[in-house]
Amino acid sequence: MTDRILMCAPHHYDVDYVINPWMEGNIHRSSRDRAEAQWNQLYEVLKTHAEVVLVEPQKGWPDMVFAANAGLVLGDQCVLSRFFHPERQGEEPHFQKWFEDNGFTVHTLPESLPFEGAGDALIDRAGHWVWAGYGFRSELDSHAYLAKWLDVEVVSLRLVDNRFYHLDTCFCPLKDGYLMYYPPAFDDYSNRLIEMRVPEDKRIVIEEVDAINFACNTVNVDRVVVMNKASEALTKALGDRGFKVVETPLTEFLKAGGAAKCLTLKVNEARQATPQSSTIESRTILMEGHLLDSGLVNRALDTIVAGGGSFQVLSFDLGKQRQDSSRAEVKVSAPDDSVMGDIMGQLVDLGAVTMPDEEAAISAALEGVVQDGVAPDDFYVTTIYPTEVCVDRQWLRVEGQRMDGAIAITQDKGQSVAKCKLLRDLLEGEEVVVGSKGIHTIRTAPSLKKKMDDFSFMGAGVSSERRVELVVDQIAWDLRQIRDRGGKVVVTAGPVVIHTGGSEHLKNLIRGGYVHALLGGNAIAVHDIEQSMKGTSLGMDMKRGVSVHGGHRHHLQAINTVRRHGSIAKTVEAGVLKSGVMYECVKNNIPFSLAGSIRDDGPLPDTKMDLLEAQADYARLIEGADLILMLSTMLHSIGVGNMTPAGVKMVCVDINPAVVTKLSDRGSVESTGVVTDVGLFLSLLVQKLGKLTGQYAQV
Ligand code: ARG
Repeated sequence: MTDRILMCAPHHYDVDYVINPWMEGNIHRSSRDRAEAQWNQLYEVLKTHAEVVLVEPQKGWPDMVFAANAGLVLGDQCVLSRFFHPERQGEEPHFQKWFEDNGFTVHTLPESLPFEGAGDALIDRAGHWVWAGYGFRSELDSHAYLAKWLDVEVVSLRLVDNRFYHLDTCFCPLKDGYLMYYPPAFDDYSNRLIEMRVPEDKRIVIEEVDAINFACNTVNVDRVVVMNKASEALTKALGDRGFKVVETPLTEFLKAGGAAKCLTLKVNEARQATPQSSTIESRTILMEGHLLDSGLVNRALDTIVAGGGSFQVLSFDLGKQRQDSSRAEVKVSAPDDSVMGDIMGQLVDLGAVTMPDEEAAISAALEGVVQDGVAPDDFYVTTIYPTEVCVDRQWLRVEGQRMDGAIAITQDKGQSVAKCKLLRDLLEGEEVVVGSKGIHTIRTAPSLKKKMDDFSFMGAGVSSERRVELVVDQIAWDLRQIRDRGGKVVVTAGPVVIHTGGSEHLKNLIRGGYVHALLGGNAIAVHDIEQSMKGTSLGMDMKRGVSVHGGHRHHLQAINTVRRHGSIAKTVEAGVLKSGVMYECVKNNIPFSLAGSIRDDGPLPDTKMDLLEAQADYARLIEGADLILMLSTMLHSIGVGNMTPAGVKMVCVDINPAVVTKLSDRGSVESTGVVTDVGLFLSLLVQKLGKLTGQYAQV
C-alpha cells in the first residue's frame, strides 16, 4: 500500500510568536520565498515515494504548515489535537474539517487536556503500540484516551530537554523495527522503556549535531529516509542498515522548530495492532493546610514531575485571609503502577491524601512479618507527622508516632490497632503496612497550628546572632507558660554546656522547676561532677580559664569516686557530691538518662552502655513533652529528634550552624534553631526568666 501523506502549503507561514526555543530570536526572520521553495522541494521528493494530499492553509495560523500536529490517525480513527498554546488552537477546526471530510471518525479530547497529534505520538513500525511523548506539549493523561479510542497500547515517554519539545523532534521509528533517536532528550525511566522494547541492534542512537539538525524529524517511506540534513556518520549508520538518506534543506522551518516530519502527517496508518490498553494510572489527591506559606504545593508538584509523573491542578482554593488554610485537588498521573507507587509514597509524606471518593477503594496494603525484627521489603517508613492508615475501610490513628518506624496492625479485643514500631520490635505474624496506599499524614492538625501560632515569630528557621535575644524572650515566655500549666520540658545537653560556664544557669533552671527530664551522655555528667568536685572541667580551671597541674586526671578521679558509691544519687546521698547539674537533678527528683558511647571513659555507673536500653529510656522520658531544649549536642539531639513526633516544640542551640540546620530540617514548623554559644544562651535565658518572675538571676 502506498503511503498517503497530508501536507499544508506554507502560504501563510511565518515565525510570529515564540512557543519553543527555536523560535526565539527568529520572529519574522524567515523568508517566505525560501520557505516556499524548500517546502516545494520536500513535496516533490515525497511525491516520488508516496501520495501527497493537501489541506488548505489558513491565514492567521502560520504554524498550520506543520501538519504532523493535526492529530493522530490509526485506521479510520483520528484523535484531533488540542494545542497547548493558544497561538495554535485556532488550527483545530480546520484540521477537524479535513479529517471529517475525508471519512475519519474524529475524537476530541476534554478541553483542558493538551495533546499535539503525531508530533507527540508515533506508531511503532514493527511493534503493536504507539509511542507517546509528554512533558512539554501533550499531557500524560491524554495518552489514556489514545489507548481507549484507538484501541492500542500506548507507551509513554517523558521529554526533558525543551529543544526537543515534541516526540518527533528526537525519536523516529523506522521500517522493520528500527528506531533512530536521541537518548538525552528523555528521562532515565523512558530510556529504560525504549531499551526494553527495541533490541540494541535495532537502535540507531544519534549525536547532538544531528539532533539539532532535526535528523530525527524524518519522513520514512519504506527504505528511504527524507530529512533536512545528516552527518556523514549518520548517513553511514543508516546506510549500513539498508536505509537511503535523501537530504532536502528545511532551514526556514527549523526557525519555527520543525522540519520534514513535522511538515507531514501519514493518514493511512494501517491498523496492525493487537488491541491493548495503556498502563497509565491516575489518582486524585487532596492537600490541605498552609500550602503556600509552607511551600508544600510546590514541593508536591516538583515531586510528581521529578518522579516521572505528570499532574493537573483540578482546583486550588486559597482561602480569603492570611490565616485561612488552602486546599488543592491535584490529579496525578504516572506511566505505570510502580512509578505511581513511588510518587504517592513521597506525596503522602507531604501530607497528601487520596480523594475521599477514592478512599473506599484504597485500604492500606498489609504484609505479614515472617521474621522477628525484620519488616517486609516495601514497608512504609513513618515520619514525625501524625498518621492515619485505612484498614478495612476504617481510618486508624497510628499510636506512638515517630520517624523511621514501620506501622504494625495488631488486634486488640477484636479491634484493629495501628502502632508505630521500630524494626527491631516487629514480631513474627504481625501485619505491616506496605506501599503508600491508604496512608494519610497530617501536616497541620489543629493542635499543631495552635502551637505554631504562639511560637510564630520564630518560625522554622535558624536565628542569627542579632535575633538570639528575641528568640530567648520567646523561649523564656514559653518555659514559663509550660511550667505554670504543669507541662513538660525535656533538656538534652552536651558537655559544652559545662565548658562554656552554662552549668550555673542550667542548675537554676532545674531549681526553678523549668526542667522535667535531662538527657545526655556520660560526658556531661562526668564534666559536671568534675567541676563540682575539683573546680575544673576536663582539667581546666573554670574560674581562671587556665589548665591546672595534673588536671587531666580530674575527670577520671570524679568517675572513680562515683563508681565507689555505686551511682550519682548515692554519691549525693553520701554528701560527697554537693553541687552541680546532676546534684540538682537528684535533689529535685528530676529523672535523667545517660546514654553511653564508644568514647566514654569510665563510664559512670548510671550510664547505659546497652544502647537499645538507652533508646528505650530516652523514649520513655520524652513521652508527653511539650518542649525539648537541645543544648550543644549533635548526637543526643538528633537521637531525640528521631524519636519525637511532630507537634513537640524543639529548640536547638549550638555554635555549629550545621547541627542547628540539621535539626530544623525535619521540616516541622515547631523546631527552632539558635546558632550561638550555649553558655551565653543559658545566661540570657535565666536572666529573662528572672525578669519575668520579677527576680533578677533568681528564676
Ligand atoms: N512552531 C511549531 C510549534 O512550536 C513547530 C511545530 C513542529 N511540529 C512538530 N511536529 N514537531 O508548535
